[in-house]
Amino acid sequence: MSTDGVDTSRRRFLTAATTVVGAAGTVGAVIPFVLSMNPSARALAAGAPVEVDISKLEPGQRITAEWQGKPVWVMRRTKENMQDLAGLDSRLGDPASEVDHQPAYATNPERARKAHPEIAVLIGICTHLGCSPTFRPDLAPADLGPDWKGGYFCPCHGSKFDLAGRVFKGSPAPTNLIVPPYYFVKDTVIMVGEDGGVA
Ligand code: FES
Repeated sequence: MSTDGVDTSRRRFLTAATTVVGAAGTVGAVIPFVLSMNPSARALAAGAPVEVDISKLEPGQRITAEWQGKPVWVMRRTKENMQDLAGLDSRLGDPASEVDHQPAYATNPERARKAHPEIAVLIGICTHLGCSPTFRPDLAPADLGPDWKGGYFCPCHGSKFDLAGRVFKGSPAPTNLIVPPYYFVKDTVIMVGEDGGVA
């Protein structure tokens, strides 16, 4: 024991132990990354489907999952959101989703599966240059104008999308956001990345 109350012998031991752990960590780090991944991690990296629990998702809320390394937004739209979507067509670049950026079952105004049209599933990457747009569900905010009914705003160059991921005219983004394949395992769980054989 030293005079300042610090147990130096214990400190020396801790220093030695830390060094050993550090060396072991270094050896571990040179194992090739792929070998160190377990099968499910490898499958995820390759784009395996991802299950998303939406049981706690309230109307108006959005959660972000990850599939193929990309953010996937899952939003439960409110009744008002759904009504507002219907009145936006004249302001949108591709209101009918003619560009093939969604599965056939999501080629409708909600861009969603008919069984649960209120649930929106979108890849959260701007179709301009790949930034991640900001979730702006607020109505008529000062920066987005009195006509804003909620949607996504890309801070990089100002692209605007509605809550179905449809791009507004005048945005630099050329197309709507992408809807990935997905299906409902049950009412409270969706699988992103696969159709599940459900058309
Ligand atoms: S990357 Fe979104 S507007 Fe340019």
